[in-house]
Amino acid sequence: MEQKKKAVLYTGGGLLFGVCFLFMLYFGKETFYVEGTEPTAQTYDYHFALITEETGNAYWQMIEQSAKATAADHNIYLESMGPRKANPEEVLRTMDQMIAANVDGIITQGLPGPRFLDLVVKANEHGIPVVTVDSDMPESERTAYIGTDNYESGYLAGEELIRETKGKQSVGIITGNVESLNQQQRIKGFEEAIKNVERIEVVDIKQSNITEVGAAQATYSMIKQHSNINALFGTSALDGIGMVQGVEEMTVWERPYMIAFDTLPETINLLEQEKLDATIAQYPEEMGKQAIQTMRDLQSQANVEPLQHTGTDVIRSVKQWEDHSS
Ligand code: BGC
Repeated sequence: MEQKKKAVLYTGGGLLFGVCFLFMLYFGKETFYVEGTEPTAQTYDYHFALITEETGNAYWQMIEQSAKATAADHNIYLESMGPRKANPEEVLRTMDQMIAANVDGIITQGLPGPRFLDLVVKANEHGIPVVTVDSDMPESERTAYIGTDNYESGYLAGEELIRETKGKQSVGIITGNVESLNQQQRIKGFEEAIKNVERIEVVDIKQSNITEVGAAQATYSMIKQHSNINALFGTSALDGIGMVQGVEEMTVWERPYMIAFDTLPETINLLEQEKLDATIAQYPEEMGKQAIQTMRDLQSQANVEPLQHTGTDVIRSVKQWEDHSS
């Protein structure tokens, strides 16, 4: 009897132990396993950091994806990071951390203010080249800029408005962020293009904080404030999409002439539905690819072109965009 009791006890204990062990393995893995953990940099030739303006932004994801693909082709470990929502302070902090981590190169947006200048100097002192993408900061010691000629892209938008409209145009500009250098340059180029055309004037500029909902709200309140607005120009990737929503909320009213920025699928869709008149194309995939190639060249001491403009075009229809992309 005693024997039997013992056997039951041991079997039960053993089973309990087994079950607990399995639970431990399962939950331990769930808790500590980090999905997509990158292999260590040691197995790679170089370790670069890409710091984006916003990780959740479709435009930045295009830059990231092409940079990652190019890096993978060349045995490069590309660590990509950034704030979820635009936050220049966090970008600067991350830059500093990447310098401390002694990466082989940093790819990021040029930012206004002395802290960025200092960090680029610090990176260079550590032998870490900095390449700016999307937005330049030429006053800094960055090694190269790869991206749109932002002044030129705004100028193109201004020329398009002149060509495609007749009569008095009161223009509202929806911009991502008034502090961003690329947004300032786009507005400057636009204003320069229309400056000698008397029938066109900019009546207001509002910020969207590079969000769709921000652009919709800015558009709505701008039109409420200036009922004479009959043209809109959105200077960052989600502004055009938000502008359409803002305008649609104001039903009894003829829609303004609208020119957007970038070629996200939703923007192209709105062109097809004729809810937008044109958009200014940038080439984020080119930016990502060329940034990695340039960083790679820099590692082998090759001379690199300091100003690499990736092109900009006016797109008026889906067909034109498709022909362009093929
Ligand atoms: C700009 C980026 C910005 C993005 C926001 C693009 O047009 O080039 O700087 O982060 O729009 O959606």
